[in-house]
Amino acid sequence: MKPELTILVNRSHPVPENFSDGITFVELMGGENTFISLEEEAARAYLKLQQFLLDSGLPIELLSGYRTAEKQQRIWDESLESNGAEYTARYVATPGFSEHQTGLAMDVMLYNQAGNVITDNYAPEYERMLPVLHRFGFILRYPEGREEITGYGYEPWHIRYVGIPASQIIWENNWTLEEYTKNIARP
Ligand code: DAL
Ligand code: ZN
Repeated sequence: MKPELTILVNRSHPVPENFSDGITFVELMGGENTFISLEEEAARAYLKLQQFLLDSGLPIELLSGYRTAEKQQRIWDESLESNGAEYTARYVATPGFSEHQTGLAMDVMLYNQAGNVITDNYAPEYERMLPVLHRFGFILRYPEGREEITGYGYEPWHIRYVGIPASQIIWENNWTLEEYTKNIARP
């Protein structure tokens, strides 16, 4: 079954109950030979994006994809332990409210020319990835300066599959998913 690709999940919109039931998940190889589960259409689109970026000299790797509520809880707990309460509140969703639980969101890592992982949120490699995303059905879900709208700090590594044309409409209007949802009448 195809999920609602533009589903809005944020601090005030929890993951709908049973959302992942009936979704076909596939596993892709992520960093350090881990297997990452994603909704199948999102996974296919990601592979195209990955190949395109690789061909453009921008290697990218999956770090995280589908998470259960239990996994999200573990991530939240670990973040609280290592990053503290303030960071965790700003960057990590509580279980039930993470779009990773839809299988449509992913965290990625980029590499520089020397093959090292990019750790600077403002690195030019992220600037190069951003304008390409919409062509493959993706958006940057937590852009800089939109924290009051999205509820989360700038996360250049977190991309969200919404499909085409939604990704293009969001890009052309410089919207967040919240603004898209408000402005586009839903069936
Ligand atoms: N980092 C995003 C907000 C999440 O935890 O889902
Ligand atoms: Zn994420």
